[in-house]
Amino acid sequence: MPAVGMGCWMGEVGGGERVGRMVEKALKLGYRHIDTAAGYGNEEMVGKAIKESGIPREQLYITTKLSNAAHDKVVEGFEASLAKLDCGYIDMYLMHWPVAVVDGKVLPPTASPTIIDTWLSMQSLLQTHKSQLRSIGVSNFSIKTLTQLFADERVTVIPATNQVELHPYLPQMGLKEYCEQKGILLTAYSPLGQPPATARSSPDAPPLLLGDSVVVSLAEKYGATPAQILLNWGIQRGTVVIPKSENEGRMKANITIVHLDESDMAALNALHDQPGMHRSLLPYHQKGDNGSGVFGWSYEWLGWEGMGDGGVIG
Ligand code: A2P
Repeated sequence: MPAVGMGCWMGEVGGGERVGRMVEKALKLGYRHIDTAAGYGNEEMVGKAIKESGIPREQLYITTKLSNAAHDKVVEGFEASLAKLDCGYIDMYLMHWPVAVVDGKVLPPTASPTIIDTWLSMQSLLQTHKSQLRSIGVSNFSIKTLTQLFADERVTVIPATNQVELHPYLPQMGLKEYCEQKGILLTAYSPLGQPPATARSSPDAPPLLLGDSVVVSLAEKYGATPAQILLNWGIQRGTVVIPKSENEGRMKANITIVHLDESDMAALNALHDQPGMHRSLLPYHQKGDNGSGVFGWSYEWLGWEGMGDGGVIG
């Protein structure tokens, strides 16, 4: 999997013309790893841009994800994504969330399809759709949900990757160590910790990681941009990063490697130790019947340890 990919979440479902232009530009600039999802509602446009690029399929790495509403119909979900992307095969198919939604209702972790049921269906895809699928993984899994998965002896395939929110304010140190022990590659979504503009303009918007004084001073030191510092921190610690950008200059910068000194890596590793800074920066946190959580699952069900209202840890 290439270490830098183009994330295709456009801040809203769809984003048709915009996403097509973005993927087209990214491929011209040298991106070879494209990350989308059934839930982003743009697989068709992503696939069209890939096809029109004329780049041989084997040079590309394409990830898409099973939506929460398709845990009870994994084969249909996979085939629909493949048909929309129309790119021959999928390199990486992820369970987008451990959360299953059936008939519009969010299921609790114990109801079928559980994460184990869904994973077993995904495992079967590797046999039944051999020529159309290279590897499978998960997203938004924690040590808790991964441990639940591995506790079932029918689980014979280790997720190749776990894609989670990951940046210096949410460095996922414990999860990273656990995944390394299991041979699971961590992929960082929102590696710039940059929620959409609509979320940023709210009065209680989270802090901007790109404006962090340590990140900004390192950018000056290396003659780089704050985004490059954050992305290279991610790459240098052995994770994959998938920043989204529609801007050609930022796209180019985001794919350019800047090697950081060990002492600067340590300074970035310590950012989350500041009071109140160990936190998610995304706007998807909600208060629900079972306490705060995301997409109908509480932090406890998700296993997002120590997380409180708004995604703040500690
Ligand atoms: P834009 O598409 O206009 O470049 P993330 O992938 O962490 O969710 O971040 C995506 C957001 O960050 C988008 O709003 C994107 O806007 C912005 N962004 C991407 N690259 C950079 C960069 N190099 N510097 C500043 N903002 C960036």
